[in-house]
Amino acid sequence: MSIATMADTGLRFRIQPTGGALGADVFGFPFKDFTAAEFAAVRAAWTRHQVLRFRGIDITDEDQIRFAAGLGPFVIHPRQMQEGTHGSHREILVISNLKKADGSPAGDLGDGEVNWHTDTWFVTRPPSASILRALRLPAHGGNTCFLDMYAAYDTLDDAAKKAIEGRYIHHQKVIDGRGDVRMGMVRPRTDDVRSWPGVPHPIVRTVPESGRKALYLGGRRHAWIIGMEPDESAALLAKLWTHCIQDRFVWCQQWQPGDMVMWDNRCVMHRRDAFDPNTIRLMHRTAIEGERPV
Ligand code: OGA
Ligand code: MN
Repeated sequence: MSIATMADTGLRFRIQPTGGALGADVFGFPFKDFTAAEFAAVRAAWTRHQVLRFRGIDITDEDQIRFAAGLGPFVIHPRQMQEGTHGSHREILVISNLKKADGSPAGDLGDGEVNWHTDTWFVTRPPSASILRALRLPAHGGNTCFLDMYAAYDTLDDAAKKAIEGRYIHHQKVIDGRGDVRMGMVRPRTDDVRSWPGVPHPIVRTVPESGRKALYLGGRRHAWIIGMEPDESAALLAKLWTHCIQDRFVWCQQWQPGDMVMWDNRCVMHRRDAFDPNTIRLMHRTAIEGERPV
């Protein structure tokens, strides 16, 4: 959008597609006093571009919370209830490699690589929006890439589309993306994930606002396509994952101070690069409750 059209629409900010596989930059969004029309315009841009990056902003946790609240109720992660781990507010999840005085983590995700996933895919109503704001960044690494799951679905061959039509994945909730047992869970006695606790979600979901179909894989570890023999399920999942992870569907966010990124967790996957453990990365995340995937 040019400056001229900004004046025409009465909006005090500018949206510019990244030119990559997905995503757009938003410059000059008035976080302190945005109008309903401005919020609606940014929301529409988010639906269309799947990921928005607000560049060069200087906002507080309260500003981030007020903005995010316009999208729906907050997801409050169990760790956000723990004293000393949450940020200034319960709505904020700290994503950081910082440690408390006793050496235990003061944030989530540490300094390692984070594999492709959608946020909290193993619950009944996974978040619709995740919003991540940079407070401290390492000089190198820790970048976050996004993958367009609409395009991943659209470009599947007919045989693959047919194979997944009406199918559900059983998303187990015991083991996390790094292979660790989740908070409050115990490692099951059997390796057969078909009997593990989890939730079923359709492999193809339609995002209500866009009306578009997206491939919805959640996380890779121990997933099972309901009704298939384990070997058959593993082979089809491998095919789907290989198809998704193609450079042409990916756009990477190289973090700069003053960046905040907001993704549509229903139609993108994301991953993060590792970074030097001797540096500090500190992000404040807010997540908004989504609908049950259909
Ligand atoms: C997340 C996440 C990636 C990052 O917060 O859900 O995956 O770049 N973060 O920290
Ligand atoms: Mn994530």
